[in-house]
Formats: sequence, C-alpha cells, structure tokens
Amino acid sequence: MKGICRRGLTATGIVIILALGIGQVVADEKHHKEKYEDDFGIRKGSIYDEENIRPEHGEYSMTEPGKSKRIKRAFENSPPLIPHDLTGMLPIAETNNACLNCHMPAAAESIGAIPMPRSHFFDIDKGKDLGSKLDGKRYPCMQCHVPQVNIPEPIKNQFKADFRSEKSRTRSNLLDSLNEGVKAE
Ligand code: HEC
Ligand code: HEC
Repeated sequence: MKGICRRGLTATGIVIILALGIGQVVADEKHHKEKYEDDFGIRKGSIYDEENIRPEHGEYSMTEPGKSKRIKRAFENSPPLIPHDLTGMLPIAETNNACLNCHMPAAAESIGAIPMPRSHFFDIDKGKDLGSKLDGKRYPCMQCHVPQVNIPEPIKNQFKADFRSEKSRTRSNLLDSLNEGVKAE
C-alpha cells in the first residue's frame, strides 16, 4: 500500500515537473523570439517593418575645401575619406568632374589640395604608366573615396592599423609597395 502511494506521488510529481518545464521552455522561446525579432543585429526595430527602418545619416562636413581638416587614414594605403563639403560637385558626370579641378597634380599644389597619387595615372591591369593621363577607372572618385559623417558607431571598431612609416599615415604610395614580397620570375 505504502509502495503504491509513493509511486502515485512520484507520478504526480513528474507530471508537475514536466508541466513546469514545458511552461518554462515556451516562455523562454517566446522571450527569445520577441527579442530576436525586435533586436536583429545592429538593425533596431521589428524585422516585419520596413517603414521606419532607415540607416542613420548624420551630418556631412559643411567645411569648404581648403578649410577642412584631413581625416586620419584607416590603414596604410587606404583610400582617404573626403573631409570637405561636396555641395555643387555631384554627381560626377562623364564630361564634368569637379574633383579634377583641384586634385590633378598640376593644380593641387597651388590650391593646397592633396594631389592624386601615381597609382591613379597607371593602368594596373596592363602594368602601363599613363604619364599625366588619369586612368579611366579612377574617374568615378566616389566609388572609393567617401565623405565621413559625424555619427556614433553602432559597434565600436577594434581595428588598429599598423603604419610602417610616419609618412604613410598621411600620404599613400600604393604603386611603390604593390609588388612588395612578390617575386618576379
Ligand atoms: C575647390 C577644390 C577642391 C575640389 C573641387 C575638391 N577637393 Fe578634395 N580636397 C581639397 C583640399 C584643399 C583638400 C585638403 C583638405 C582641406 O584643406 O580642406 C582636399 C581633400 C580631399 C581628400 C582627402 C585627402 C587626404 O589625403 O586626406 C579627398 C579624398 C578628396 N579631397 C576627394 C575629393 C573628391 C572625390 C572631390 C570631388 C567630389 C573633391 N575632393 C573635390 C580641394 C578640393
Ligand atoms: C578604384 C578606387 C579609387 C578611385 C576610383 C579613386 N581613388 Fe583615389 N585613392 C584610392 C586608393 C586605394 C588610394 C590610396 C592608395 C594609393 O593608390 O596610393 C587613393 C589615394 C588618393 C589620394 C591621396 C593621395 C596621397 O598622396 O595620399 C587622393 C587625393 C585621391 N586618391 C583622390 C582621388 C580622386 C580625386 C579621384 C577621382 C578622380 C580618385 N581618387 C579615384 C582609390 C581610388
């Protein structure tokens, strides 16, 4: 009799534990699901709503060329970010590229702009020096050079660049270092 009673209690106990356990799993799943759907990576808001999900844009530099402060390079030979206002310069059109007025080496010196580096006057595919002629692939500057916005990073960048010389912090020399470590046959 005692044995049956104990067994009976044990069975009820198991049922209760199971019920509590399943309840907890369901609750956890619901919590996880909601959290996941409303907080998906760096995107904030429901994954079912496209209406109010826009990347934050922040403020672009309004400082005119000649008065802006150059931005630290991300790593050696990275394309530098554009520190100045671009009002009136965009879009870059096939027959009109305002950037060239100031960044072609011949003009840059007198204007105080940074001249385009030698890599932009060299056809890297064919290994051909183009002299003072800009390589056509470099014409759409904004494919590689972008302005910087003043906006807090959603995730802190831990990357630390390793510059091999002081000069490489402020000037590029890709064409001189491109073949470093490559053995010519
Ligand atoms: C009116 C002259 C002028 C025009 C036009 C101009 N820039 Fe500049 N740019 C400068 C000057 C001057 C600097 C140096 C920073 C300063 O003094 O404001 C500079 C800096 C830069 C830098 C940073 C270089 C570095 O080493 O940090 C980039 C990249 C750049 N400009 C790209 C562009 C692009 C792309 C365009 C066209 C959309 C453009 N610039 C149009 C004058 C100009
Ligand atoms: C295909 C990508 C690409 C395009 C297009 C491009 N650049 Fe660059 N630019 C780079 C990279 C990468 C560097 C740094 C490495 C190098 O080439 O020396 C650079 C460097 C520069 C520098 C810094 C020079 C120095 O001595 O530090 C200036 C100024 C510049 N570019 C201006 C321009 C302008 C103006 C245009 C458009 C006419 C342009 N770039 C088009 C990738 C590009």
